[in-house]
Amino acid sequence: MTQDELKKAVGWSALKYVKPDSLVGVGTGSTATHFIDALATIKGQIKGTVSSSDASTQKLKSYGIPVLDCNEVDSLDVYVDGADEINHHMQMIKGGGAALTREKIVSALAKQFICIVDESKVVDVLGKFPLPIEVIPMARSYVARELFKLGGKPIYRQGVVTDNGNVILDVHDLIIAKPIELENRINNIPGVVTVGLFANKGADIALIGTSIGVKEMK
Ligand code: A5P
Repeated sequence: MTQDELKKAVGWSALKYVKPDSLVGVGTGSTATHFIDALATIKGQIKGTVSSSDASTQKLKSYGIPVLDCNEVDSLDVYVDGADEINHHMQMIKGGGAALTREKIVSALAKQFICIVDESKVVDVLGKFPLPIEVIPMARSYVARELFKLGGKPIYRQGVVTDNGNVILDVHDLIIAKPIELENRINNIPGVVTVGLFANKGADIALIGTSIGVKEMK
């Protein structure tokens, strides 16, 4: 199976976690896009969605799926999204698609986070995938110097402006042995909007696409 076929299989398998009359948080990326295709088949059965990016909003609307403003909802029943890496403690690196800030906000509202990934994303230690950090543009160089001090190599993602008007630094060469500690530390650097480490609040269930079927990790 190709990687995209594995992404499609997990995207569709997440449908069983979407209960009738629920409010659904929708992630961003190629795996989440497969989930949106699946969600369209039961669109009449859900209350609506909250989206984590302009791209996902557009796709949801193209199917006629209602998209609510985040400020209109108190909580979401479930949030379904991909990840760039996930470890066995259900902690993740996210933000490869630059949507990490909205993804963290939408995931914070959700009672349950279902992470949908193909098997290549499951790792023992996070950090091989460069850690995305959304930064206020005027703080870019300052934040980069602070990240150097933490042992990483930050690279400015050229030409990318987030949905919130900020920039992304991708931090290479980090071996993330203590994800919660690092998430808290980076969150404390002035100018950082969001770090793409989802460790304090990780996934509740991971659906993993493998060549022999979709596996579940809790
Ligand atoms: C978007 O900002 C990311 O967090 C995505 O969830 C992540 O990059 C996974 O993307 P794919 O599903 O396209 O691999």
